[in-house]
Amino acid sequence: MSTQQFKQAPHKLLVIPGPIEVTDEVLFANAHPSVSHMAPEFASVFGEALRMTRDVVFSKTGQPFLISGSGTLGWDQVSANLVEAGDDVLVLNTGYFGDSFADCLQTYGAKVDQIRADFGTTASLVELEKALQSKKYKLVTVTHVDTSTAVLSDPKAVAAVVKKVSPDTLVILDAVCAVASEEIRMEDWGIDVVMSASQKGLGAPPGLSVIIASQQAMKVFETRSTPVASFYASWKRWLPIMKAYEGGGAAYFATPPVNLIFAFHQSLTQLLKSSPTLEERFARHKEVSQRVKTAAAELGLKSVPVNAAEAANGMTAVYTPPGVKSSEMIPLFLKKGVVVAGGLGAQKDAYFRIGHMGTTVVNSERGDIDKIVSVMKEVVEEVTSKKA
Ligand SMILES: Cc1ncc(COP(=O)(O)O)c(C=O)c1O
Repeated sequence: MSTQQFKQAPHKLLVIPGPIEVTDEVLFANAHPSVSHMAPEFASVFGEALRMTRDVVFSKTGQPFLISGSGTLGWDQVSANLVEAGDDVLVLNTGYFGDSFADCLQTYGAKVDQIRADFGTTASLVELEKALQSKKYKLVTVTHVDTSTAVLSDPKAVAAVVKKVSPDTLVILDAVCAVASEEIRMEDWGIDVVMSASQKGLGAPPGLSVIIASQQAMKVFETRSTPVASFYASWKRWLPIMKAYEGGGAAYFATPPVNLIFAFHQSLTQLLKSSPTLEERFARHKEVSQRVKTAAAELGLKSVPVNAAEAANGMTAVYTPPGVKSSEMIPLFLKKGVVVAGGLGAQKDAYFRIGHMGTTVVNSERGDIDKIVSVMKEVVEEVTSKKA
């Protein structure tokens, strides 16, 4: 069978904030016959995938790492390789994923301070500046899109403050739910690590931890004075592997997810080398996001992000109608063939989340957005008429 002939089986529309729907071409690439991870055929695909990973965040000099694991492995990589026990780290915490990143950093011995944003808002840049003036932080972390709330932080503004007050402090961007649905200009903005995963805007199945580290971050790693406190997550082990594959050869530390790399390579090719362009994709995500958010507002659903300008473009989080739990709504969406997500954390039953990233957004002929909007209307009408 050729890629043109392959069509994935009918299924419920997956519009949680990741994993997302993937294209037939990506799934077909995943079904590549078994091949050795040391084969030249695979090495060249891995090498190209590394180069394209850099391109997605407009980086020229960043060091990409593609390692089998989920987005969570990115937190471990940052914490294990860039932190030494006792280092001060500042976490800009916009919700559930900020809590987890802080936990991970502490696991590796970091002394973590946090600037906690109120639910649905971003961390204050004024507080950030004050914190940086009061203490020397090795890293500042910020979650680009906090998937728990759909709150969108401004990494460009965060990095500008950090680099102004404390140029040696590394800016770490948790962009798991942002890469390829939100614009990220890693070098222009002064971001030192972009961490992501394959299953969201990057449009591939789950299972790949995706990191790009700046040369400044690599220098911090190379000049650390204590050994890396992790075996699997150590860049000492992975850096030669990534360099070998990018140079066209193969090298072994631990078996890479060969088929997933084929799928990821295909998805990156679609993102970067076909129509629409990456810039057009960002614009489409904004348009579509506006459409979903307007449709929700017209149904009387209030946005979780408090400020419209701080709402993600790849997902929407809205409160349920009064007296209705999200756990009552999700099954109604499901019955109509649409998979959305409830809330996350303490308020999980008070709101629900819809992902709109990747092929669901850019391939309008699929009709995914029409379906989301019409099913949301039906579900809201159904639950509100029951309560009336
Ligand atoms: C912002 C953010 N960071 C980290 C993660 C963790 O990624 P994973 O679930 O792939 O381990 C997620 C997952 O949704 C996320 O949204």
